[in-house]
Amino acid sequence: MSRFLSRLAARLILPHSPLPGTIRQLPRYFSATHSAFSNSLNSISKPNADFARYPPKHTKHYTMAELDNLISKLKTLGIEEPLKVYPGSNPVKNPFDIFRSYITEELGNISGVSKDLIYPALEWTNTSDRGDLVIPIPRLRIKGTKPDVLAAEWAGKFNKGKYIKDAVAKGAFIQFYFNPELLAQLVIKDVLTKKETYGSASLGEGQRVIVEFSSPNIAKPFHAGHLRSTIIGGFISNLHEVLGYDVVRLNYLGDWGKQFGVLGVGFKKYGSEELLESDPINHLFNVYVAINKDIEQEKETSPDGISAIDEEARTFFKKMTEGDEYALGLWKRFRGFSIERYKDTYARLNITYDSYSGESSVSEEAMQEVSKLMNEKGLVVEDEGAKLVDLTKYNKKLGKAIIQKRDGTSLYLTRDIAGALDRYQKYKFDKMIYVIASQQDLHTAQFFKVLDLLEFDWAKNLQHINFGLVQGMSTRKGTVVFLDTILEETKEKMHEVMKKNEAKYAQIENPEEIADLVGISAIMIQDMSAKRINNYTFNMNRMFSFEGDTGPYLQYAHSRLRSVERNASSITPEDLLNADLSLLKEECATELLRVISQYPDVILNAYRTSEPSTVVTYLFKLTHIVSSCYDILWVAGQEKELATARLALYSSARQTLNNGMRLLGLTPVNRM
Ligand code: ARG
Repeated sequence: MSRFLSRLAARLILPHSPLPGTIRQLPRYFSATHSAFSNSLNSISKPNADFARYPPKHTKHYTMAELDNLISKLKTLGIEEPLKVYPGSNPVKNPFDIFRSYITEELGNISGVSKDLIYPALEWTNTSDRGDLVIPIPRLRIKGTKPDVLAAEWAGKFNKGKYIKDAVAKGAFIQFYFNPELLAQLVIKDVLTKKETYGSASLGEGQRVIVEFSSPNIAKPFHAGHLRSTIIGGFISNLHEVLGYDVVRLNYLGDWGKQFGVLGVGFKKYGSEELLESDPINHLFNVYVAINKDIEQEKETSPDGISAIDEEARTFFKKMTEGDEYALGLWKRFRGFSIERYKDTYARLNITYDSYSGESSVSEEAMQEVSKLMNEKGLVVEDEGAKLVDLTKYNKKLGKAIIQKRDGTSLYLTRDIAGALDRYQKYKFDKMIYVIASQQDLHTAQFFKVLDLLEFDWAKNLQHINFGLVQGMSTRKGTVVFLDTILEETKEKMHEVMKKNEAKYAQIENPEEIADLVGISAIMIQDMSAKRINNYTFNMNRMFSFEGDTGPYLQYAHSRLRSVERNASSITPEDLLNADLSLLKEECATELLRVISQYPDVILNAYRTSEPSTVVTYLFKLTHIVSSCYDILWVAGQEKELATARLALYSSARQTLNNGMRLLGLTPVNRM
């Protein structure tokens, strides 16, 4: 391993970007203050010895004052039963949990089954005609009596109290329908008060997660795989923030290797200082393509098949590894300008990174440490001069992983192994997520396994969130795709679509900006509508449609709710908080209310599945119900009392939609 190491040692290591001071102490997703603390009830965190900046563990994830508030509110609603807080529940943040507690208490008392078994057995229903919560009796594991007999018996005895409208036995299940009047009292004003924090929870409080996503390669196209990683990774980061985690967003650039020697040589021949500054990403790519053509040509025409330029490139990269001022200086500028440009583009997607790391920033120390440990543990075998780790012993599919090539150069895999160690030392993460295409499943499984074999105890806290391919994504000019180009073309196309409705278009103050935001929604929703692992075909026509489940449809739904609010401007926010919600009698109002109340649970479910589609599907359900309510629940032209109650419902729907859209990474528009 010595040659490999000395090459590495010679490499000038970039200082790590100065981070810790810039990590936000509070989730930036929230604008309101976040007074809750981490909770002992469902604490899954393992404290880090040298990580003292958080409030102490074993505090509750709501304050006593908040709980008292809720209890006195329940009293004013005529509820006398004590509110029991079960492990994992948070009635202060999630109104559903108040109902869960009641059902658990009541069912526990009738059946004699342990309440600790009942609480976690309560499940969501797929459609609201099956109730708000359902319990499958077989999950309670009762011997002797058949589940459907028990379901019928217990449903009959169930004291519905103020909470439940109906408890219905269906086969081996009991379906519970919440009392909509109580639900309205507990949910609508809660949403209007909590605003952008509605739906948040605290299960990650006191824990740090690193989310690595996007990770393009400098001087190469930003392809569909990077786009998906960006979109999904942005969502996964936001999701953790909403759940109280301290999130570190990390971009791991492909910024090291011989290709930078090629680029360095190419730049001397084809480079332009001006273009490097004004359009670095495209320019570097063009230079890279041009010089590679030259190399190919040289190889074809020279008798021995050797390219002089290629040799020069090798030397250039060697100089970089040896810290040569010119070579490294040029490379640093390539990298720096590219990052500056990427920052602007990511900002359009509401993404800001805490750190731009990359293959170049893996430390020499970590590389040495890893190679020492691998040798000590006898993991490394030599094979024709190359070094590899035989992972087939643990799992045939993992194969033999090469960690050092015959010429001594290190590899992508080796850098990922050492890079993880660096990150642990720097961030002391409780969890680290890699958002990488499923094409790299094997690569990821290999380096996870090696870290595990090296017995790092944090290796079990690594998670790979993968995704399938995008087919048919190309630009007007050709097949090479850059993020900027994708966004620009989408914006133009969206702008054209908007212009078709002349009357509407005339009313929009900033059509370009709206076209950009709605266009971005079109791309993102298309990407996040199905399970991550599915491949999909990039379809410009479908994604811009206002009909069907598209980004523009969600934006339209949001702007329409905004317009309902604008048209009722005589009703103040205070009026809304004092609305008489008993006036919401229509079935449609109840349905909408029930869906709004599911939102905190939807977030928890998305956390469980790591699927953006969990949220997307929910938002379409919400917006479809809203749109079916418009014909029935008028606000305009109604008496003030009734108009106020209805507006309170619409406003809380809008807030929920807004929260969900921002969670996905979209910017909801107010007019379009
Ligand atoms: N730059 C790589 C590529 O474009 C993706 C990096 C993924 N992250 C990692 N830690 N390997 O394929």
